[in-house]
Amino acid sequence: MAKMWQGRFKKELDSKVNDFNSSISFDSRMYKDDIIGSIVHVNMLGKQGIIPLKDSKAIAKELTRILDDIESGKVQFAPDAEDIHMFIEAELTERLGDVGKRLHTARSRNDQVAVDLRMYLKGEIDTIIGLIKKLIAVLVEKAEENLHTVMPGYTHLQRAQPITFAHHLMAYVEMFKRDMVRFFNCFSLMNECPLGSGALATTTYPIDRDYTAEYLGFDNAMLNSLDGVSDRDYCMELANAIAICMVHMSRLSEEVVLWCSWEFKFIELDDAYSTGSSIMPQKKNPDICELIRGKTGRTIGNLTTLLSMMKSLPLAYNKDMQEDKEAIFDSVDTIKLCLSTLAPMLDTMKVNKDKMLEAGKRGFINATDCADYLVKKGMPFRDAYKITGTLVALCIDKDTVLDSLPIEEYKKLSPLFDSDVYEAISLKTCVEGRNAVGGPAPERVKQHIQKIKDTVLKEENEKD
Ligand code: ARG
Repeated sequence: MAKMWQGRFKKELDSKVNDFNSSISFDSRMYKDDIIGSIVHVNMLGKQGIIPLKDSKAIAKELTRILDDIESGKVQFAPDAEDIHMFIEAELTERLGDVGKRLHTARSRNDQVAVDLRMYLKGEIDTIIGLIKKLIAVLVEKAEENLHTVMPGYTHLQRAQPITFAHHLMAYVEMFKRDMVRFFNCFSLMNECPLGSGALATTTYPIDRDYTAEYLGFDNAMLNSLDGVSDRDYCMELANAIAICMVHMSRLSEEVVLWCSWEFKFIELDDAYSTGSSIMPQKKNPDICELIRGKTGRTIGNLTTLLSMMKSLPLAYNKDMQEDKEAIFDSVDTIKLCLSTLAPMLDTMKVNKDKMLEAGKRGFINATDCADYLVKKGMPFRDAYKITGTLVALCIDKDTVLDSLPIEEYKKLSPLFDSDVYEAISLKTCVEGRNAVGGPAPERVKQHIQKIKDTVLKEENEKD
């Protein structure tokens, strides 16, 4: 393919260098944004009298045809084209001749690529937010079904205090809710239009940047052209939001891996969302979770790639920045894949409430409540703590639990103990008693769920 910039050069570009330089293999996915960007640009050129109105109309019309032809498969991307921007302009010129050559007036690929990428990523952010909402909806539904499903809460992966499965799931809802806010913020920060920045210093043509910003769906035109072409904060920010959300998914995946092990058996994954072993006939593996956990690594890597790529770049555009796309596209593809697999996997999992309760009954997760029982009868917490510790050690010796230890044993350690201690340390009491804001008491969690339904999920229903 002939180069648009060939005038200054006496030799053809070395073919290996052409491949090295080319980005069409990964930036062709922005074809639609590129064409829409060009249509609005050329409409502006016509409106401003920068090129003849009839030419701008002809160009806009042909660009629409090119879009249709790409989408119907009639036009295929040339693998040796330098990038998607050059490819579409070349296709236009081939079709319209001299008229097509007017498109690139008052524009550079530097502002073109910046506007295309912002438009493309804005669309992807919308998709990601939609997928997170779906995941939250699944988690909320599961939480509703498990408001009273007692399980041990853990610290250091040691059984710690009683919670419910609903409370545990709603913790993730909060994380994903924050992720949504991060994506919204990222969207609004990137919602400024770099088109018109030109190569770096705008242009001497009387362009109308407010017009192009508005018609391309941006809040405003960027206020500094050097920044317009050299800013990639939106890539770093999006990669960051994606990496954090992936970390959340990875932590949940890790828990699911644990929960469906024979050691826990808290849940069972649906056959459609697990895999078998090639050799061990008994195996049912949580591959999806492991892949999400594994893929989180590459999204963290992509963020590092972008930060390192940008950290020493002088203003304004540098070709290094072409490296932004593979990194951010990979993060976008990865998170979309993970979100859309995780949600149905969780939706179809079976919760073994009995196993969770059984685990809750062993491990002395009501020990804090036993100490609190004494505190509520007037004993200082530290003394109550020590007595309860002694009771726990006694239970371990006798291979029993606090709930089954005879009252005489309790009384030996403190006269404050009475038979109402059993009620006080029952898991039901322990969970229901934790009804402070944020606590596992079913009433509290129910309120939390309602709040999520009225806010995060409400918008979803309205959109549908
Ligand atoms: N393919 C390039 C990129 O992705 C487009 C911008 C090229 N600009 C230039 N001056 N070479 O960054």
